[in-house]
Amino acid sequence: MDKLEPTVNGERLWEELLQLGRIGLSPSGGINRPSLGVHDLIAREYIRERMQTAGLSVRLDPAGNLVGRLEGTDPDAPVVMAGSHIDTVLEAGRFDGPLGVLGGIEALRTVKEKGLRHRCSLEVVCFTDEEGVRFGVGYIGSRAMAGDWNAEWLNARDRDGISLGEAMRQAGIRPEEVALSKRGAGSVKVYLELHIEQGRVLEDVGAVCGIASAINGYRWVRASFAGQADHAGTTPMALRRDAMAAAAEAMLQIERSAVRHGGTATVGTLKLEPGAVNVIPGEVSFTIDYRHPDALALKRFGEEIESELGVIALRRNIGLRLEEMDGEAPVACDERISMLFAESANELGIASIGMVCGAGHDAVAMRRLTDIGLILVRSRGGISHHPDEWSSPEDCAGGANVLLRTMIKLANE
Ligand code: HGY
Ligand code: MN
Ligand code: MN
Repeated sequence: MDKLEPTVNGERLWEELLQLGRIGLSPSGGINRPSLGVHDLIAREYIRERMQTAGLSVRLDPAGNLVGRLEGTDPDAPVVMAGSHIDTVLEAGRFDGPLGVLGGIEALRTVKEKGLRHRCSLEVVCFTDEEGVRFGVGYIGSRAMAGDWNAEWLNARDRDGISLGEAMRQAGIRPEEVALSKRGAGSVKVYLELHIEQGRVLEDVGAVCGIASAINGYRWVRASFAGQADHAGTTPMALRRDAMAAAAEAMLQIERSAVRHGGTATVGTLKLEPGAVNVIPGEVSFTIDYRHPDALALKRFGEEIESELGVIALRRNIGLRLEEMDGEAPVACDERISMLFAESANELGIASIGMVCGAGHDAVAMRRLTDIGLILVRSRGGISHHPDEWSSPEDCAGGANVLLRTMIKLANE
């Protein structure tokens, strides 16, 4: 396709990103749309309506994934799929996820409006619970579609004690049928994801788009220290079994180990009991998010930290429990798709570079089902998972155009 070929309507895409960004907006300016919560459900209705007005056939699959579809000329051909998510972390920005869902809708809408021929059917998917922030396990919808569903996840509970299964039922999703969303082997030709970079590499090198060659692996672990609650005033320092002091020492070790291993480690949540100004904490639990581009290093990294936490617990005569919450090995993106992304960006005069992606995406789960490609769009200041997350209208449209062109090429070969 040459430069004159149809490109997406960037203004329309931008307006929809702003509209979706108002759903779940808190007074602090952050967006709070935890999975299957009231704002996520309102946002899902907005996406359903956008898919319908774009002229796509829309269905909710058994995992609650919203699927918009344009039939191809060859009904037997595998589908070319794009997708992402609209659930958010806490106090989030408005691009992480929505760019891939609305950008995918805009691409399919442009195909329909301009009557672009495509042999393979095209789909854009809004996946259920990518972030995993509410229930402690992520990629729920994409893992179910890829055939990697674990019914035990239904028992995972949020901070109010509501289980994933209960939240699904309240949202009209039948928990006992989630596994039925699995797609057959060979039914999806490729899965392409458009996403913001969420880092500062592209801005530093002056590129608009990053073409991911691989996506870092991660592990989520919950560490719980069990010491002895006691009186803050009468308990001598030498006799304490202070769970909070143990946790504090552990967190500094975690930071040092991450630097040593060239990975990242983040303690993002912390709970302590009983939580009174004049009581020594008896119970402390916190989560660790490990990331690394190399599977073996990710394993070693975790083993080193967990043995260090054991040494701290032993020395302080404190109990330690480690609970594996979630994780995925690093995945490689398909080289041919990446080459097509680069070719499309070049045709459009969009500066792009190859890179490894530090953030996780539904593409990680979809790698179990089909070949994946990930196109990243520059983030201002690299900020993400924060209200200041921002990408320009031009870059968002540029990423959507690279997605559109690449989908059409793959759908007609
Ligand atoms: O955690 C991540 O990397 C993504 O935001 N789910
Ligand atoms: Mn995210
Ligand atoms: Mn995301």
